[in-house]
Amino acid sequence: MMQNLRLAVGCVTLAALASASPAAAQDTVKVGVVLPMSGTFASTGRQVSQGAELYMKEHGDVAGGKKIQLIVKDDTGRPDMTKRIAQQLVVSDKVDILAGFGLTPLALAGAPIATEAKKLMVVMAAGTTIVTEKSPYIVRSFFTLPQASIPMGEWAAKNGIKTADVLVSNYGPGLDAARAFTEKFTQLGGKVPSQLRVPMENPDFAPFLQKVVDDHPDAVFVFVPAGIGASLMKQAAARGLQKAGIKLIGTGDVPDDDILADMGDASVGFITAYWYSAAHKSPENEKFVADFEKNYHRRPGYMAVTGYDGMHLIYAALDKTKGNTDGDALIAAAKGLSWESPRGPMKIDPETREPIQNIYIRKVEKVKGELYNVEFATFPMVKAPHHDEK
Ligand code: PHB
Repeated sequence: MMQNLRLAVGCVTLAALASASPAAAQDTVKVGVVLPMSGTFASTGRQVSQGAELYMKEHGDVAGGKKIQLIVKDDTGRPDMTKRIAQQLVVSDKVDILAGFGLTPLALAGAPIATEAKKLMVVMAAGTTIVTEKSPYIVRSFFTLPQASIPMGEWAAKNGIKTADVLVSNYGPGLDAARAFTEKFTQLGGKVPSQLRVPMENPDFAPFLQKVVDDHPDAVFVFVPAGIGASLMKQAAARGLQKAGIKLIGTGDVPDDDILADMGDASVGFITAYWYSAAHKSPENEKFVADFEKNYHRRPGYMAVTGYDGMHLIYAALDKTKGNTDGDALIAAAKGLSWESPRGPMKIDPETREPIQNIYIRKVEKVKGELYNVEFATFPMVKAPHHDEK
Protein backbone atom coordinates (compact mmCIF):
# COMPACT_ATOMS: atom_id res chain seq x y z
CA MET A 1 0.00 0.00 0.00
CA MET A 2 2.71 2.48 1.06
CA GLN A 3 4.74 1.36 -1.95
CA ASN A 4 1.80 1.99 -4.26
CA LEU A 5 1.20 5.35 -2.73
CA ARG A 6 4.79 6.34 -3.29
CA LEU A 7 4.64 5.14 -6.85
CA ALA A 8 1.41 7.04 -7.31
CA VAL A 9 2.96 10.28 -5.99
CA GLY A 10 5.60 9.86 -8.64
CA CYS A 11 3.24 9.76 -11.61
CA VAL A 12 -0.06 11.38 -10.61
CA THR A 13 -0.21 15.01 -9.56
CA LEU A 14 -0.77 15.82 -5.91
CA ALA A 15 -3.87 17.76 -6.90
CA ALA A 16 -5.44 14.67 -8.44
CA LEU A 17 -4.66 12.54 -5.40
CA ALA A 18 -5.78 15.15 -2.94
CA SER A 19 -9.17 15.65 -4.58
CA ALA A 20 -9.99 11.93 -4.33
CA SER A 21 -11.11 12.36 -0.69
CA PRO A 22 -14.16 10.39 0.53
CA ALA A 23 -17.50 12.20 0.70
CA ALA A 24 -17.88 11.58 4.45
CA ALA A 25 -14.79 13.66 5.18
CA GLN A 26 -16.29 16.70 3.50
CA ASP A 27 -18.01 17.95 6.64
CA THR A 28 -14.61 18.32 8.26
CA VAL A 29 -11.92 20.73 7.16
CA LYS A 30 -8.50 19.33 7.99
CA VAL A 31 -5.69 21.79 8.64
CA GLY A 32 -2.21 20.25 8.47
CA VAL A 33 0.13 22.28 10.69
CA VAL A 34 3.86 21.68 10.11
CA LEU A 35 6.14 23.13 12.79
CA PRO A 36 9.42 22.55 14.62
CA MET A 37 8.04 20.97 17.81
CA SER A 38 11.47 19.68 18.92
CA GLY A 39 15.08 20.83 18.55
CA THR A 40 16.53 24.38 18.64
CA PHE A 41 13.32 25.96 17.35
CA ALA A 42 10.86 24.01 19.53
CA SER A 43 9.69 27.21 21.24
CA THR A 44 8.32 28.37 17.86
CA GLY A 45 6.31 25.17 17.41
CA ARG A 46 5.02 25.25 20.97
CA GLN A 47 3.90 28.87 20.78
CA VAL A 48 2.37 28.78 17.29
CA SER A 49 0.40 25.59 17.98
CA GLN A 50 -0.79 26.89 21.36
CA GLY A 51 -1.92 30.15 19.74
CA ALA A 52 -3.85 28.23 17.08
CA GLU A 53 -5.38 25.93 19.69
CA LEU A 54 -6.35 28.88 21.90
CA TYR A 55 -8.17 30.50 18.99
CA MET A 56 -10.23 27.33 18.60
CA LYS A 57 -10.93 27.13 22.35
CA GLU A 58 -12.23 30.69 22.31
CA HIS A 59 -14.17 30.53 19.03
CA GLY A 60 -15.33 26.90 18.78
CA ASP A 61 -14.36 24.37 16.14
CA VAL A 62 -16.78 25.31 13.36
CA ALA A 63 -16.09 27.73 10.47
CA GLY A 64 -17.96 28.12 7.18
CA GLY A 65 -20.39 25.50 8.47
CA LYS A 66 -17.66 22.84 8.79
CA LYS A 67 -15.87 21.24 11.67
CA ILE A 68 -12.20 22.25 11.85
CA GLN A 69 -9.59 19.65 12.71
CA LEU A 70 -5.93 20.50 13.34
CA ILE A 71 -3.26 17.90 12.58
CA VAL A 72 0.06 19.12 14.04
CA LYS A 73 3.30 17.48 12.82
CA ASP A 74 6.90 18.01 13.94
CA ASP A 75 9.46 18.73 11.20
CA THR A 76 12.22 19.26 13.83
CA GLY A 77 13.32 22.36 11.89
CA ARG A 78 14.63 20.41 8.89
CA PRO A 79 13.43 21.46 5.40
CA ASP A 80 13.63 17.91 3.95
CA MET A 81 11.25 16.78 6.68
CA THR A 82 8.92 19.75 6.14
CA LYS A 83 8.58 18.78 2.52
CA ARG A 84 7.99 15.09 3.22
CA ILE A 85 5.46 15.82 5.98
CA ALA A 86 3.56 18.39 3.89
CA GLN A 87 3.36 15.83 1.08
CA GLN A 88 2.09 13.12 3.45
CA LEU A 89 -0.46 15.49 4.95
CA VAL A 90 -1.86 16.21 1.49
CA VAL A 91 -1.74 12.68 0.10
CA SER A 92 -2.41 10.42 3.12
CA ASP A 93 -4.23 12.65 5.63
CA LYS A 94 -6.04 14.51 2.85
CA VAL A 95 -5.72 17.88 4.53
CA ASP A 96 -7.55 20.82 2.95
CA ILE A 97 -5.20 23.54 4.19
CA LEU A 98 -1.49 23.68 5.07
CA ALA A 99 -0.29 25.96 7.89
CA GLY A 100 2.58 26.63 10.29
CA PHE A 101 6.15 26.76 8.85
CA GLY A 102 8.55 27.91 11.57
CA LEU A 103 11.53 29.23 9.59
CA THR A 104 12.11 30.62 6.11
CA PRO A 105 13.85 27.47 4.75
CA LEU A 106 10.91 25.39 6.01
CA ALA A 107 8.32 27.61 4.30
CA LEU A 108 10.36 27.50 1.09
CA ALA A 109 10.35 23.68 1.28
CA GLY A 110 6.56 23.59 1.72
CA ALA A 111 5.69 26.09 -1.03
CA PRO A 112 5.94 23.71 -4.05
CA ILE A 113 3.60 21.24 -2.32
CA ALA A 114 0.94 23.94 -1.89
CA THR A 115 1.31 24.98 -5.51
CA GLU A 116 1.09 21.46 -6.87
CA ALA A 117 -1.80 20.39 -4.62
CA LYS A 118 -3.56 23.79 -5.02
CA LYS A 119 -3.98 24.14 -1.24
CA LEU A 120 -4.15 27.32 0.83
CA MET A 121 -0.87 27.63 2.76
CA VAL A 122 -0.86 29.92 5.79
CA VAL A 123 2.72 30.89 6.66
CA MET A 124 2.66 31.63 10.37
CA ALA A 125 6.34 31.96 11.28
CA ALA A 126 8.68 32.65 8.35
CA GLY A 127 9.59 36.27 7.65
CA THR A 128 11.70 36.59 4.52
CA THR A 129 10.03 38.69 1.81
CA ILE A 130 10.42 36.09 -0.96
CA VAL A 131 8.32 33.46 0.85
CA THR A 132 4.92 34.64 -0.43
CA GLU A 133 6.35 34.93 -3.95
CA LYS A 134 7.04 31.19 -3.99
CA SER A 135 3.39 30.10 -4.34
CA PRO A 136 0.16 31.89 -5.31
CA TYR A 137 -1.56 29.90 -2.52
CA ILE A 138 0.55 31.40 0.29
CA VAL A 139 -0.81 34.01 2.69
CA ARG A 140 1.17 35.19 5.73
CA SER A 141 -0.10 35.95 9.25
CA PHE A 142 3.40 36.90 10.51
CA PHE A 143 5.41 39.89 9.18
CA THR A 144 8.35 40.47 6.90
CA LEU A 145 11.70 41.58 8.28
CA PRO A 146 11.84 44.78 6.16
CA GLN A 147 8.38 45.72 7.50
CA ALA A 148 9.93 46.20 10.96
CA SER A 149 13.55 46.98 10.01
CA ILE A 150 12.76 50.04 7.87
CA PRO A 151 10.86 51.80 10.71
CA MET A 152 13.75 50.90 13.06
CA GLY A 153 16.23 52.50 10.63
CA GLU A 154 14.10 55.62 10.38
CA TRP A 155 13.52 55.93 14.11
CA ALA A 156 17.22 55.41 14.89
CA ALA A 157 18.41 58.01 12.37
CA LYS A 158 15.88 60.55 13.64
CA ASN A 159 16.63 59.94 17.32
CA GLY A 160 20.28 60.72 17.75
CA ILE A 161 21.86 57.46 16.59
CA LYS A 162 24.59 58.36 14.10
CA THR A 163 26.47 55.07 13.81
CA ALA A 164 25.18 51.50 14.11
CA ASP A 165 26.76 48.10 13.51
CA VAL A 166 24.45 45.47 12.02
CA LEU A 167 24.56 41.95 13.49
CA VAL A 168 22.17 39.36 12.03
CA SER A 169 21.74 35.61 11.49
CA ASN A 170 23.26 34.62 8.18
CA TYR A 171 20.18 33.42 6.27
CA GLY A 172 17.09 34.83 4.54
CA PRO A 173 15.41 36.92 7.23
CA GLY A 174 18.72 38.20 8.66
CA LEU A 175 19.91 39.35 5.26
CA ASP A 176 16.49 40.89 4.54
CA ALA A 177 16.58 42.75 7.88
CA ALA A 178 20.17 43.96 7.42
CA ARG A 179 19.54 45.26 3.91
CA ALA A 180 16.30 47.07 4.86
CA PHE A 181 17.67 48.66 8.05
CA THR A 182 20.94 49.71 6.38
CA GLU A 183 19.21 51.26 3.35
CA LYS A 184 16.86 53.40 5.44
CA PHE A 185 19.38 54.33 8.14
CA THR A 186 22.13 55.37 5.69
CA GLN A 187 19.65 57.16 3.42
CA LEU A 188 18.83 59.35 6.44
CA GLY A 189 22.51 60.03 7.15
CA GLY A 190 23.44 57.13 9.46
CA LYS A 191 26.73 55.24 9.12
CA VAL A 192 27.23 51.48 9.46
CA PRO A 193 30.85 50.67 10.43
CA SER A 194 30.47 46.84 10.33
CA GLN A 195 28.07 44.36 8.77
CA LEU A 196 28.26 41.19 10.87
CA ARG A 197 26.70 37.83 9.94
CA VAL A 198 26.47 35.07 12.54
CA PRO A 199 25.70 31.40 11.81
CA MET A 200 21.99 30.63 12.10
CA GLU A 201 22.19 27.71 14.55
CA ASN A 202 24.24 27.48 17.79
CA PRO A 203 26.14 30.68 17.08
CA ASP A 204 29.07 31.86 19.17
CA PHE A 205 28.39 35.58 19.31
CA ALA A 206 31.60 36.44 21.18
CA PRO A 207 33.90 37.40 18.25
CA PHE A 208 31.10 39.43 16.62
CA LEU A 209 30.24 41.26 19.84
CA GLN A 210 33.96 41.97 20.36
CA LYS A 211 34.02 43.64 16.94
CA VAL A 212 31.06 45.79 18.01
CA VAL A 213 32.88 46.78 21.23
CA ASP A 214 35.98 47.67 19.17
CA ASP A 215 33.96 49.73 16.64
CA HIS A 216 32.18 51.48 19.51
CA PRO A 217 29.15 52.67 17.46
CA ASP A 218 26.21 54.49 19.06
CA ALA A 219 24.12 51.32 18.61
CA VAL A 220 24.05 47.77 17.28
CA PHE A 221 21.05 46.60 15.23
CA VAL A 222 20.35 42.89 15.87
CA PHE A 223 18.16 40.18 14.43
CA VAL A 224 18.25 36.48 15.29
CA PRO A 225 15.22 34.16 15.01
CA ALA A 226 13.03 33.05 17.94
CA GLY A 227 14.86 30.39 19.92
CA ILE A 228 18.31 32.06 19.67
CA GLY A 229 17.73 35.46 21.32
CA ALA A 230 18.42 34.45 24.93
CA SER A 231 21.99 33.42 24.16
CA LEU A 232 22.66 36.67 22.26
CA MET A 233 21.41 38.71 25.23
CA LYS A 234 23.54 36.75 27.69
CA GLN A 235 26.70 37.19 25.62
CA ALA A 236 25.98 40.89 24.97
CA ALA A 237 25.73 41.46 28.73
CA ALA A 238 28.93 39.46 29.35
CA ARG A 239 30.84 41.59 26.79
CA GLY A 240 29.64 44.72 28.58
CA LEU A 241 28.00 46.24 25.50
CA GLN A 242 25.49 48.30 27.42
CA LYS A 243 28.12 49.34 29.99
CA ALA A 244 30.24 50.63 27.10
CA GLY A 245 27.29 52.85 26.15
CA ILE A 246 26.42 50.93 22.96
CA LYS A 247 22.63 50.85 22.60
CA LEU A 248 20.87 47.64 21.58
CA ILE A 249 18.29 48.15 18.83
CA GLY A 250 16.61 45.71 16.44
CA THR A 251 13.46 43.89 15.45
CA GLY A 252 11.42 42.42 18.31
CA ASP A 253 12.54 38.85 17.66
CA VAL A 254 15.28 38.98 20.32
CA PRO A 255 13.30 40.40 23.28
CA ASP A 256 10.50 37.87 22.63
CA ASP A 257 7.85 38.03 25.37
CA ASP A 258 8.14 34.24 25.63
CA ILE A 259 11.63 34.59 27.14
CA LEU A 260 11.94 38.27 28.07
CA ALA A 261 11.14 37.73 31.75
CA ASP A 262 14.27 35.54 32.04
CA MET A 263 16.61 37.90 30.16
CA GLY A 264 17.48 39.93 33.19
CA ASP A 265 18.22 43.60 33.65
CA ALA A 266 20.79 43.63 30.81
CA SER A 267 17.83 43.87 28.43
CA VAL A 268 16.45 47.08 30.03
CA GLY A 269 16.60 49.91 27.48
CA PHE A 270 16.68 47.59 24.43
CA ILE A 271 14.73 49.46 21.70
CA THR A 272 12.98 47.50 18.97
CA ALA A 273 10.48 47.95 16.15
CA TYR A 274 7.84 45.23 16.05
CA TRP A 275 4.21 44.27 15.64
CA TYR A 276 3.47 42.56 18.96
CA SER A 277 4.04 43.22 22.63
CA ALA A 278 2.28 41.39 25.47
CA ALA A 279 2.05 44.88 27.02
CA HIS A 280 -0.01 46.22 24.05
CA LYS A 281 -2.94 48.10 25.52
CA SER A 282 -6.23 46.96 24.00
CA PRO A 283 -9.20 44.91 25.22
CA GLU A 284 -8.42 42.24 22.56
CA ASN A 285 -4.85 41.85 23.82
CA GLU A 286 -5.75 41.89 27.49
CA LYS A 287 -8.20 39.03 26.89
CA PHE A 288 -5.68 37.15 24.72
CA VAL A 289 -2.90 37.42 27.33
CA ALA A 290 -5.23 36.41 30.18
CA ASP A 291 -6.64 33.41 28.27
CA PHE A 292 -3.18 32.32 27.16
CA GLU A 293 -1.75 32.55 30.68
CA LYS A 294 -4.74 30.66 32.08
CA ASN A 295 -4.30 27.79 29.60
CA TYR A 296 -0.52 27.56 29.25
CA HIS A 297 0.82 29.18 32.46
CA ARG A 298 3.21 31.54 30.72
CA ARG A 299 3.20 34.82 28.85
CA PRO A 300 2.38 34.65 25.13
CA GLY A 301 5.10 35.76 22.73
CA TYR A 302 4.72 36.89 19.13
CA MET A 303 4.77 33.32 17.82
CA ALA A 304 1.61 32.59 19.82
CA VAL A 305 -0.12 35.61 18.27
CA THR A 306 0.74 34.63 14.70
CA GLY A 307 -0.68 31.13 15.33
CA TYR A 308 -3.83 32.71 16.77
CA ASP A 309 -4.19 35.16 13.87
CA GLY A 310 -3.40 32.45 11.33
CA MET A 311 -6.38 30.49 12.64
CA HIS A 312 -8.54 33.60 12.50
CA LEU A 313 -7.52 34.03 8.88
CA ILE A 314 -8.52 30.40 8.12
CA TYR A 315 -11.88 30.77 9.91
CA ALA A 316 -12.69 34.08 8.20
CA ALA A 317 -11.73 32.77 4.74
CA LEU A 318 -13.86 29.62 5.24
CA ASP A 319 -16.79 31.75 6.41
CA LYS A 320 -16.49 33.76 3.19
CA THR A 321 -16.35 30.66 0.94
CA LYS A 322 -19.14 28.99 2.99
CA GLY A 323 -16.88 26.05 3.70
CA ASN A 324 -15.50 25.64 0.17
CA THR A 325 -11.88 24.50 0.62
CA ASP A 326 -10.77 24.97 -2.98
CA GLY A 327 -7.35 26.64 -2.86
CA ASP A 328 -8.21 29.31 -5.41
CA ALA A 329 -11.44 30.18 -3.58
CA LEU A 330 -9.70 30.35 -0.20
CA ILE A 331 -6.80 32.53 -1.32
CA ALA A 332 -9.27 34.89 -3.05
CA ALA A 333 -11.24 35.05 0.23
CA ALA A 334 -8.09 35.72 2.26
CA LYS A 335 -7.14 38.77 0.16
CA GLY A 336 -8.35 41.96 1.80
CA LEU A 337 -9.50 40.37 5.09
CA SER A 338 -9.16 42.76 8.02
CA TRP A 339 -9.64 42.33 11.74
CA GLU A 340 -8.61 43.52 15.20
CA SER A 341 -5.82 41.23 16.41
CA PRO A 342 -4.22 41.19 19.87
CA ARG A 343 -1.33 42.97 18.06
CA GLY A 344 -3.66 45.81 16.87
CA PRO A 345 -5.48 46.28 13.57
CA MET A 346 -4.38 44.12 10.65
CA LYS A 347 -5.34 43.56 7.04
CA ILE A 348 -4.22 41.12 4.35
CA ASP A 349 -2.81 43.12 1.44
CA PRO A 350 -4.72 41.84 -1.62
CA GLU A 351 -1.68 42.56 -3.84
CA THR A 352 1.02 40.76 -1.86
CA ARG A 353 -0.93 38.43 0.51
CA GLU A 354 1.10 39.95 3.37
CA PRO A 355 -0.26 41.48 6.59
CA ILE A 356 -0.51 45.27 6.72
CA GLN A 357 -0.06 46.16 10.39
CA ASN A 358 1.12 48.73 12.92
CA ILE A 359 4.82 48.69 13.72
CA TYR A 360 5.44 49.92 17.25
CA ILE A 361 8.68 51.31 18.64
CA ARG A 362 9.16 49.78 22.09
CA LYS A 363 11.65 49.86 24.92
CA VAL A 364 12.32 47.10 27.45
CA GLU A 365 11.29 48.42 30.85
CA LYS A 366 10.42 47.00 34.23
CA VAL A 367 6.68 47.20 34.86
CA LYS A 368 5.63 46.12 38.37
CA GLY A 369 8.83 44.13 38.70
CA GLU A 370 8.56 42.34 35.32
CA LEU A 371 10.30 43.07 32.03
CA TYR A 372 8.08 44.20 29.14
CA ASN A 373 8.43 45.76 25.68
CA VAL A 374 6.65 49.05 26.37
CA GLU A 375 5.29 50.66 23.19
CA PHE A 376 5.93 54.41 22.87
CA ALA A 377 5.55 55.28 19.17
CA THR A 378 3.59 53.82 16.23
CA PHE A 379 4.18 53.61 12.48
CA PRO A 380 0.55 53.00 11.47
CA MET A 381 -0.51 50.24 9.04
CA VAL A 382 2.88 49.53 7.47
CA LYS A 383 2.92 47.48 4.26
CA ALA A 384 5.47 44.76 3.60
CA PRO A 385 7.55 46.16 0.72
CA HIS A 386 7.40 43.79 -2.24
CA HIS A 387 8.02 43.21 -5.91
CA ASP A 388 8.41 46.45 -7.79
CA GLU A 389 7.35 48.59 -4.81
CA LYS A 390 10.89 48.33 -3.41
C1 PHB B 1 12.44 33.04 9.61
O1 PHB B 1 13.16 32.02 9.53
O2 PHB B 1 11.95 33.56 8.61
C2 PHB B 1 12.19 33.65 10.95
C3 PHB B 1 12.15 32.84 12.09
C4 PHB B 1 11.94 33.41 13.34
C5 PHB B 1 11.75 34.77 13.46
C6 PHB B 1 11.76 35.58 12.33
C7 PHB B 1 11.99 35.02 11.07
O3 PHB B 1 11.57 35.30 14.67
